[in-house]
Amino acid sequence: MGGPVVLGIESSCDETGAGIVQDGRLLAHVVASSMDEHARFGGVVPEIAARAHLEAFGPVVREALDRAGLRLSGVDAVAVTTGPGLSGALQVGLAGAKSLAYAAGVPLYGVHHLAGHVAADTLEHGPLPAPCVVLIVSGGHTSLLLVRDLVREPILHLGDTLDDAAGECFDKVARFLGLPYPGGPAIDRAARAGDPRAVDLPRPLTRPGDDPYAFSFSGLKTAAARWAEKHRLRGAEVPVADGAAALQEAVADVLTRKALAACRAHDVRTLIVVGGVAANSRVRGLAEERCAAAGIELRVPPMTLCTDNGAMIAAVGDLLVRSGAEPAPLEVSVDPSAPLEYASLTPLPVPSPRAA
Ligand code: KG4
Ligand code: ZN
Repeated sequence: MGGPVVLGIESSCDETGAGIVQDGRLLAHVVASSMDEHARFGGVVPEIAARAHLEAFGPVVREALDRAGLRLSGVDAVAVTTGPGLSGALQVGLAGAKSLAYAAGVPLYGVHHLAGHVAADTLEHGPLPAPCVVLIVSGGHTSLLLVRDLVREPILHLGDTLDDAAGECFDKVARFLGLPYPGGPAIDRAARAGDPRAVDLPRPLTRPGDDPYAFSFSGLKTAAARWAEKHRLRGAEVPVADGAAALQEAVADVLTRKALAACRAHDVRTLIVVGGVAANSRVRGLAEERCAAAGIELRVPPMTLCTDNGAMIAAVGDLLVRSGAEPAPLEVSVDPSAPLEYASLTPLPVPSPRAA
């Protein structure tokens, strides 16, 4: 027994995820990735991702239900990422989630992908303290947020990136350094053998007078690319490990400096770091050091819940169901560029031709 069982579906990029959550507890989750199919193109190919979701959807959902010891009839609600993300990829997940909800006769909830990243932490560390500062660092987004009640109140953006996301910066610099895709984990591995002080890289937007919470990573990316190019022009080998270590240090420094400044300015005692880049060892390490020194509690989800997965979407769904939120209508559509304002994506029916 217990509260409602929520099945969460994630398909916004190259991971097909299904997770099952009940009363804030993770019962099971399964992720299938099409990452290897994109590797030779150096980035996610939307058509390949959508086809892979189509193939993985059924098996991933079945496996998650099996692991939780449940059948579809034991599911009380379905939550699905409806944005932001790749349009075709989102559509496959949404169509699948709709058919499951319809077949089981249960409500459907449209969830914002980034709210999912935030909620992932609750599966490991319990309910979010209100208020808390959340640093979201993923492949497509970098934001510093002030979160009160994740599903009942609007999410306040303290700052966002003005250009590239932190993960994008890792991925692009990894390409210049000749490291494999995806770049973030490759940089993390390469950096272990490097000296972060060997290369002097900038810390964008950290001067007095700069926006304290805005980020910019494109200048850092260019600086790292120029540094690599300088070696190549001289016919010298690029010291990849040093470059990786210095880049990782610069990103971790800027991210944690601003996140801690936000905690101090808003008198918040808990910092939550989520998203794919929260898997980075130096981002985690430096955040730990700086939070400990400032007396701030740091919460970072376990690695498997940092990168895209269905459990995090189920976690938002579970909060929505328990808060009595309105489900989405069956004609809800995807919103590939949805801004993060609320955890639940306002039901967005396809506009009728006459209204357009
Ligand atoms: O949150 P996520 O799985 O997908 C998005 O919603 O974007 O984040 C993926 C990003 C990629 O840019 C990837 O390179 C980065 O997270 N990433 C890392 C690490 N693991 C994943 N970046 C740095 N170090 C890592 N260990
Ligand atoms: Zn993500």
